Amino acid sequence: MAKKAAETVTGRTALITGASSGIGEAFARRLARDRYDLVLVARNKERLEEIAGELRDAHRIGAKVLPADLTKTQSLRKIERAIASDENLEVLVNNAGFGTMGPLVELDPDTEEEQIRLNILALSRLTRAALPEMVRRHRGAIINVSSMAGMQPGPKTATYSATKAFVNSFTESLHEELLGTGVQTQVLCPGFTRTEFQRRANIDTAGIPDMAWMSPEEVVDISIASLGRGDVICVPGLLNRFLAATVAAIPRPVARKVLGLATKQVLG
Ligand SMILES: NC(=O)c1ccc[n+]([C@@H]2O[C@H](COP(=O)([O-])OP(=O)(O)OC[C@H]3O[C@@H](n4cnc5c(N)ncnc54)[C@H](OP(=O)(O)O)[C@@H]3O)[C@@H](O)[C@H]2O)c1
Repeated sequence: MAKKAAETVTGRTALITGASSGIGEAFARRLARDRYDLVLVARNKERLEEIAGELRDAHRIGAKVLPADLTKTQSLRKIERAIASDENLEVLVNNAGFGTMGPLVELDPDTEEEQIRLNILALSRLTRAALPEMVRRHRGAIINVSSMAGMQPGPKTATYSATKAFVNSFTESLHEELLGTGVQTQVLCPGFTRTEFQRRANIDTAGIPDMAWMSPEEVVDISIASLGRGDVICVPGLLNRFLAATVAAIPRPVARKVLGLATKQVLG
């Protein structure tokens, strides 16, 4: 059955989850400049509307907001339907995510479950929803926002690191499955980025050196450039790339010990 054409100004849509702040907001700003119509998803409707209104006026694009709590099944289904029925969808950025910090034994199990629902379940369902139409049209890109934390075990960030390890494996696997379909996937693995993430995770950032930080705009520009080159894994920043290569090269038991000590030293 032919799909109904969505209202469009530019003829190509980018849908971004977690677009109300941080890296997601930076993706929205960058993709508006690149003249995509935007669909912005997050819980905070007011912030989404403010961003959408500003970008609509500044770049003469279409921009609509779909407020949704992606940990809730009904809201997630709503966004899945919006994705599956948008025949102009060219870019999906699965960016919404959060982390918890501390020994698992002390963390709230319901919040841990929400983290898994958002970082894993929502990301994989939205990816699945986008694929049929993208594959049919032989075009499209899915950027899944992971983290450096997904590349190694993370003592005191056990659930978060594991959710991001899922995103890495899922996205790399899809990359191979999708070869020849014209649909690209990228797993974006930022390190420390100045957003609301650390405050929301109750992370004291005082011990993190300045040189470790990147801005969300830098991260997004590197991701888009990397997508243009067809890279499947994007680790933004020289320091992050060095750390990723080092962790991959050392034996796993050593990595676990070093990371445990580093977490204690930097994050307390
Ligand atoms: N900042 C870092 O250092 C860093 C490093 C590596 C990876 N990352 C990853 O980058 C991604 C973006 O995080 P950020 O750093 O930009 O943090 P952020 O500023 O806290 O942004 C998180 C975004 O996710 C949305 N969100 C949170 N819970 C949601 C839910 N239940 N349903 C829908 N949307 C939800 C938030 O909006 P609402 O509150 O309005 O819903 C917000 O727009 C995350 O996946 C994170 O794991 C961040």
